[in-house]
Amino acid sequence: MNQPNRVSNTAVAAFLAEEVDRRSVLRYELDLGDAAFPVVLGAGVWDQLETMIPSSWSRVVIVTQATIPGSFELSFDATWVVLPSGEAAKRPGVAEGLAERLVRLRADRQTGLVAVGGGVVTDLVGFVASTYMRGVEYLNVPTTLLGMVDAAIGGKTAVNLMGGKNLFGTFWQPQGLLCDLALLQTLPQREWLSGAGELAKYSFLTSDPFAELKLLDQIVKAQRLKQSYVAGDERETGRRSLLNYGHTLGHGIEGAYLGRGQEGSVSHGEAVAVGLVFAARLAARLDRIDQNRVDRHHQVLASYGLDFRLPSELAVDEVLSYMRSDKKNRGDMSFVLDGPNGLELVHHVDEALIRQVLDEYPRKEGVNGR
Ligand SMILES: NC(=O)c1ccc[n+]([C@@H]2O[C@H](COP(=O)([O-])OP(=O)(O)OC[C@H]3O[C@@H](n4cnc5c(N)ncnc54)[C@H](O)[C@@H]3O)[C@@H](O)[C@H]2O)c1
Repeated sequence: MNQPNRVSNTAVAAFLAEEVDRRSVLRYELDLGDAAFPVVLGAGVWDQLETMIPSSWSRVVIVTQATIPGSFELSFDATWVVLPSGEAAKRPGVAEGLAERLVRLRADRQTGLVAVGGGVVTDLVGFVASTYMRGVEYLNVPTTLLGMVDAAIGGKTAVNLMGGKNLFGTFWQPQGLLCDLALLQTLPQREWLSGAGELAKYSFLTSDPFAELKLLDQIVKAQRLKQSYVAGDERETGRRSLLNYGHTLGHGIEGAYLGRGQEGSVSHGEAVAVGLVFAARLAARLDRIDQNRVDRHHQVLASYGLDFRLPSELAVDEVLSYMRSDKKNRGDMSFVLDGPNGLELVHHVDEALIRQVLDEYPRKEGVNGR
């Protein structure tokens, strides 16, 4: 079958094919501080879902989107609910619609939800799970690389408001995580790069040679890293904010495209990748790191096939205005920056310097033709 969209990186495609052949299954737990939840990871592990359903669940409702490919056969009874496609599913009205559907299904507190999809589905289902009858349990089955290494872990759930993304949400941890690598075989290249941008970020959150690890080990390590930053700081009052490395400019780029009605011009991870090199250049200008460390950022991005350049169609003022509304700011500009002691959240970064680094930042032709 001709699938022009699927991952075009041959090394990645070969890795996934090899994993599908091996059919090995990894089982481990992600620590939540005072609790832990199970992870099952491998290629072709969808059939393990039944083993993850808690015995306390009297019934199961599986929620997905029509655009998620895969033959999701089940050996147990469950009701399927299909959400609208795209980010449009992350709306309060869709959450309400799902909750009303649960009422019609006579779902009670022993009903469990299973989210099968990318971050859109896991965010929305987590939000409904946290609010339906004041909270029911749920499992995440992420089908994107970004979902597996980021969105499906950490317990942040949300829907979008007209006023901004993820403004209406809760903290609600899933009961488990099932990652079937075989599902990644159909992932469009852009979505693959989106996950890769987050992997590139994780490589700066550890002193281990993360980017040199085998992809399978990177996924496991990324999950453990994210969980370790979440445990003890679920509500992001401290250490968890370091997970936002590269996200200040990243969100600025995504916000600028959103403001132009051109959402999706870059994926989240592609925008974060640009933000990583920008943050490194800013840190170097503040004498926090040397040129070797900046070069290391370039090398890591290149190893994932990620571009560090800023699309030329985005004006500095436009990007800056969206960076100013970053949640980390406290009336000033704050950045997660690299330094002699690793990553740190730095407040009161001089806006004139940020503007200067942005002015000098390398550009590439814009995705929308300018
Ligand atoms: N809760 C968190 O901590 C957290 C963290 C990061 C991102 N997010 C949220 O996650 C969302 C982005 O998630 P995402 O990048 O997974 O995107 P997504 O859920 O929008 O999925 C991306 C696209 O890939 C398709 N797709 C999904 N799985 C596929 C597969 N296996 N094969 C082919 N196509 C597939 C989807 O239909 C969609 O078109 C955003 O809404 C973001 O706000 C949440």
